[in-house]
Amino acid sequence: MNYIGSKFSLIDFLQSSIEIIIQQCGETRRPAEMVFADLFAGTGVVSGAFKQQGYSIIANDIQYYSYVITKHIIENNGNLDEERCQKLIEKLNETEGVKGFIYKNYSFGGTEGQEFRRMYFSDENAKKCDAIRITIEQWYQNREITDHEYFFLLGSLINSIDKYANTASVYGAYLKRLKKSAQKPMKLTPLSILHGEVQCKVYNEDVNRLIKNVSGDILYLDPPYNARQYCTNYHLLETIARYDNPVIHGKTGLREYTEQKSVFCDKRKVEKAFADLIKNAQFKYIFLSYNNEGLMSFDTIKSIMTKYGEYNVYTKEYRRFKADNARDIKAQSTVEYLHCLVKN
Ligand SMILES: C[S@@+](CC[C@H](N)C(=O)[O-])C[C@H]1O[C@@H](n2cnc3c(N)ncnc32)[C@H](O)[C@@H]1O
Repeated sequence: MNYIGSKFSLIDFLQSSIEIIIQQCGETRRPAEMVFADLFAGTGVVSGAFKQQGYSIIANDIQYYSYVITKHIIENNGNLDEERCQKLIEKLNETEGVKGFIYKNYSFGGTEGQEFRRMYFSDENAKKCDAIRITIEQWYQNREITDHEYFFLLGSLINSIDKYANTASVYGAYLKRLKKSAQKPMKLTPLSILHGEVQCKVYNEDVNRLIKNVSGDILYLDPPYNARQYCTNYHLLETIARYDNPVIHGKTGLREYTEQKSVFCDKRKVEKAFADLIKNAQFKYIFLSYNNEGLMSFDTIKSIMTKYGEYNVYTKEYRRFKADNARDIKAQSTVEYLHCLVKN
């Protein structure tokens, strides 16, 4: 998924840096003996990579769609019958579209005669999305599928539908004409299954609340860097994941999001939230990904982390997120910092 702040292209850098640093600190335990926590999990790509290395994983995100995808990546493995999963996907692909919540509120045909006409998906793809979402829920309520299958199918739907969205990149706005990829008929494609025998747990909580109740060895933090809230930029994925018929507002059809507004996107609140997070963290090794354009300055982060143990920083040049290309900004790349703390 094309996700703001995704670490997909930085995985090798992150993984090798983290493993080298902890070894330099004298760490001798094998991954299977350690707990790795990814508490701003987003697409789950970092958690997935460390799961494959054999670590026990704790993952978390405040957004429900992220929870769903990460739950599949992290908690599903040998407990899924791949042949059966493939059949379920085929069945879902055969379902006839229905005029459900997504069609009625986010497609051009469905919003005819309404105050706001929206075009987030083609009419056909919106109907297909509704049909698949409703069927997954029915199967689940009728106990025709297991919890593991439910998150596999729902995660696959979220990941698939995003490829057909008629947006420039995020859901803060839709395009006036259907772009090419949005015109193609939607096909549900399965998320891959990462095998591993490790202990994993995924949460859907505010990180500052959760941090007091979890502990482990390596804590990886990848908070938002700027004022762009994920709850508004990905509101449609949230609604597809929850499918809770929310009251929606305005031109873009935003759902209520006050509970999911992140203090990490607020210049006035971010320092305190970050300082509390580091103070309350019950982990020996703490890593923070942040770039040189973030709301917190380099010096602020350094002074907060230095208070609690041995601090160091590593850097990597990184091409900026695609959505920014249209903006009139000079820098083509940002510097990505990996701040490290070995907590006393
Ligand atoms: C930079 S993205 C993480 C990207 C992720 N590492 C990846 O590679 O896909 C930041 C994530 O933090 C989540 N988030 C923001 N504020 C949060 C909070 N207070 N508690 C938990 N998650 C939060 C957002 O929903 C978003 O998914």
